[in-house]
Amino acid sequence: MIGVFDSGLGGLSVLAAIARALPQADLIYLADTAHLPYGTKSDIFIRERVLAIGQHLVTLGCDVLVVACNTATAAAVEALRQQHPQIPVVGIEPGIKPAAVDSRTRRIAVLTTESTSRSERLRKLIRDHAGSVAVDVEACPGWATRVEMLEFDDPAFATEIAAKIAPLLDSGIDRLVLGCTHYSFLAALLNPLIDGRAELVDVAEAVARQVMRISGIRARGNAQLYLLATAAPERLRSALPRLGLDWLAAHATDAEKLVDL
Ligand code: DGL
Repeated sequence: MIGVFDSGLGGLSVLAAIARALPQADLIYLADTAHLPYGTKSDIFIRERVLAIGQHLVTLGCDVLVVACNTATAAAVEALRQQHPQIPVVGIEPGIKPAAVDSRTRRIAVLTTESTSRSERLRKLIRDHAGSVAVDVEACPGWATRVEMLEFDDPAFATEIAAKIAPLLDSGIDRLVLGCTHYSFLAALLNPLIDGRAELVDVAEAVARQVMRISGIRARGNAQLYLLATAAPERLRSALPRLGLDWLAAHATDAEKLVDL
């Protein structure tokens, strides 16, 4: 059983990619909705949440863990690996490497939460993989919460996104890295603004391939999907159509469950 988690809806973009790559796998998705957003929290707080969630998922029978959250990966993936040395743990990090390799203008930008933008792990990722490509790190306060509230049609949000993206495009970037899993669901708002001047870089599919590589027989199952949340679990299923993931709803087993963690 593969356990996938995030602060809220964002990790569903990764869950969907895993469900497509491993259609037979049994999956649990846990959204820590009682504690979102993670992006404004301290590393210590995020680490406590990640360890509590990891332990809960292992207790439920998960033998692969996927941290479907860039913020939680930056703050706590190593601590989670130490807590469960016998279990493969896959994290997600912004696609700096593929963006830098593909950039022709030698200038890229990455959109992240406040926490990820400050993280040593992101600085190291850029040092190790951007080479001579210039990387603009842009924190996007409030965006994950906007996605969580499904505010895709709010004109004020569209204006805020446009104001963030325009100077990046003017500076000559040709790759825009989505460094928070919630932002995958903003592609429909971002693409018309970008209008072919840059490409979005989302690593959800790459994470799913990594999960496929390390899972082996652990990915054999009965295509069960359980949806759990620490608050308002019913919102998980009802959000799926707005996120373009109606097909996942059909796979979900039983009712969504509230977990007290
Ligand atoms: N989806 C998360 C990420 O990838 C975090 C969003 C949040 O809770 O701030 O960073």
